[in-house]
Amino acid sequence: MGAPHLSVLLKEVVAAFEGMCITTFVDGTLGAGGHATALLQAHPEITQYIGIDQDPTALAIASARLELWKDQCRFVHANFSDIATVLAERQVASCDGILLDLGVSSMQLDTAERGFSINNPGPLDMRMNPNRTLTAAEIVNTWSERELAYLFRNYGEEKRWRQAASAIAKARQHQPLTTTQELVNLLYPILKDPRSSKGIHPLTLVFQALRIAVNEELDVLESTLKHAIDLLSPGGRLAVISFHSLEDRIVKQCFAYFASDKESTRGIAGVFKDKQPLLKMITRKPAMPSTEECAINPRARSARLRVVEKVGIEPQT
Ligand SMILES: C[S@@+](CC[C@H](N)C(=O)[O-])C[C@H]1O[C@@H](n2cnc3c(N)ncnc32)[C@H](O)[C@@H]1O
Repeated sequence: MGAPHLSVLLKEVVAAFEGMCITTFVDGTLGAGGHATALLQAHPEITQYIGIDQDPTALAIASARLELWKDQCRFVHANFSDIATVLAERQVASCDGILLDLGVSSMQLDTAERGFSINNPGPLDMRMNPNRTLTAAEIVNTWSERELAYLFRNYGEEKRWRQAASAIAKARQHQPLTTTQELVNLLYPILKDPRSSKGIHPLTLVFQALRIAVNEELDVLESTLKHAIDLLSPGGRLAVISFHSLEDRIVKQCFAYFASDKESTRGIAGVFKDKQPLLKMITRKPAMPSTEECAINPRARSARLRVVEKVGIEPQT
């Protein structure tokens, strides 16, 4: 059987931690354990690999796949926003490396019943953590037209956000929308762009917006990055793979702020308040997948990897 999920930018992730001596590593998005396998192979010195995922199915797949490293691995069902609590509960004060490979896995996309896929009809669900209550169906059927419009504009950057929200508001007066197919059938004629030749499905951005809202993906990202930076030991590294511009912007701005020696790069009336940088940029520009990787795994095409290192304490002279 092939891998249930092809890990994106695998070589680049391993390179991001190359040459480091890692005792404790936190993988905030364990998924199918593909990055975990490569990192554990590259760093036999790891004594504790803490793998977090909010999807219990992913944890079950990863734990079977990582059997060889069962003594080092801890599998934790949690949201990565709880990284500080997860570490505190295990009496771990700091760690040497952290990886966040954001978004959904192929297992989630390819399981029609999870409702993530535009092409595999399923219920309007989209929860990564099935224990949570908010589903895409609830959003589509109960949020006001105005709320839906802002959702499609702000989380989807969909140009026809108003038209999409208005069509949903009209359609649900007759009966609620319950499946991905119903949503696709309703919005396809409104969102399809006859001039577009990119081969991207017209509902991609609407599905993205719904998924982000259901899983509160952007709400937890910024706070998680701050906790992650806090928890790194001096010289430790944080690597983040994002899959769309909204995520990447949050990562880029957060890293730029903590790597800067100024409080604000804009300055107040031209005055820059100094501060101690907490981070060093390892990737000035994000690493992106090669043409070969995109050919093998088209889902990798929008991936961006950014890596930072926590600044070590300067020795006193
Ligand atoms: C792209 S996959 C990770 C794949 C993994 N790196 C591999 O190589 O197999 C993302 C995983 O992160 C999980 N995930 C996404 N957001 C999360 C969050 N806020 N907290 C915990 N897990 C999350 C998803 O459930 C999914 O299993």
